[in-house]
Amino acid sequence: MHSIAANGAHIPALGLGTWTLKDDECTDMVAEALKLGYRHVDTATSYDNEEAVGAGLRASGVARGDFFLTTKIWHTDLAPRDFRRSTEASLKRLGVDHVDLLLIHWPDPKVPLADTLGALNEARAKGLTRHIGVSNFPTALLAEATGLSDAPLAVDQVEYHPYLDQSKVHAACQGAGMAMVSYCPLHRGGDLLSEGPILEAAKAHGRTPGQIVLRWHVQQEGVVAIPRTTKKERLKENLAIFDFALSGDEMKAISALARPSSRLCDFRFSPKWD
Ligand SMILES: NC(=O)c1ccc[n+]([C@@H]2O[C@H](COP(=O)([O-])OP(=O)(O)OC[C@H]3O[C@@H](n4cnc5c(N)ncnc54)[C@H](OP(=O)(O)O)[C@@H]3O)[C@@H](O)[C@H]2O)c1
Repeated sequence: MHSIAANGAHIPALGLGTWTLKDDECTDMVAEALKLGYRHVDTATSYDNEEAVGAGLRASGVARGDFFLTTKIWHTDLAPRDFRRSTEASLKRLGVDHVDLLLIHWPDPKVPLADTLGALNEARAKGLTRHIGVSNFPTALLAEATGLSDAPLAVDQVEYHPYLDQSKVHAACQGAGMAMVSYCPLHRGGDLLSEGPILEAAKAHGRTPGQIVLRWHVQQEGVVAIPRTTKKERLKENLAIFDFALSGDEMKAISALARPSSRLCDFRFSPKWD
């Protein structure tokens, strides 16, 4: 699997998303994923599964230096003191002394961004995380954040799938040397996977619709995808996307599925999107 270079970070292009995975199922899936060759796992304080993720990482037998671990701090903990407490509690639950990437999960206009970025940079300076970044930051907020941060931000993790045009965030990330990490990369596996251009490419390449969509992500410059599954056989399926390529026309036809109002993650606390 290739890695994406992002302001000093090297991020495996495909990671395991863990939202909704819990307890033993979460531990088993994380351990199995690493045994199959995944080297990137995405969690968050709000997923309430960091202990189970940590147990899975240890059970896999893969050395700490050989996988890339991300966690995120919830938007109610962005004041510096809360941010520090929340980061330390995450590391404790995960059973690690540092993560590879620490993200602000969602922005919160009630807390000055400079304060939160100060706390994020402090976590990095103390060695609690190797790299820092943001999530759910539209382009204007991203520009503000990159201007305020001492260390360069490595990623903006945003919702991205063929139904959602994220060309503005993607261009902003590329311009800042950052990776864009796609969450909900499969649009949660619904109707998207029966769309014509995806089925056609699946037939042409002898792949599943899920593999076509994941390939579409990682074939774009500086894009990382973090699909989630509860099924062990799909772990292998979702990883097997690095030995074929979509044509330019196939990429374009899949991108042309973008439509308005296709966000899955849009909440009352969401920022104003691009
Ligand atoms: N930063 C944020 O605010 C944020 C928000 C949302 C998500 N995330 C992160 O992004 C990760 C991924 O997003 P997500 O979990 O919401 O959605 P997703 O990865 O797009 O979709 C997961 C769904 O797709 C199904 N699926 C997986 N592989 C498949 C395949 N090959 N073919 C058909 N269906 C397949 C899974 O079902 P089965 O279990 O039956 O396989 C599951 O229901 C999360 O787990 C989390 O780590 C971050």
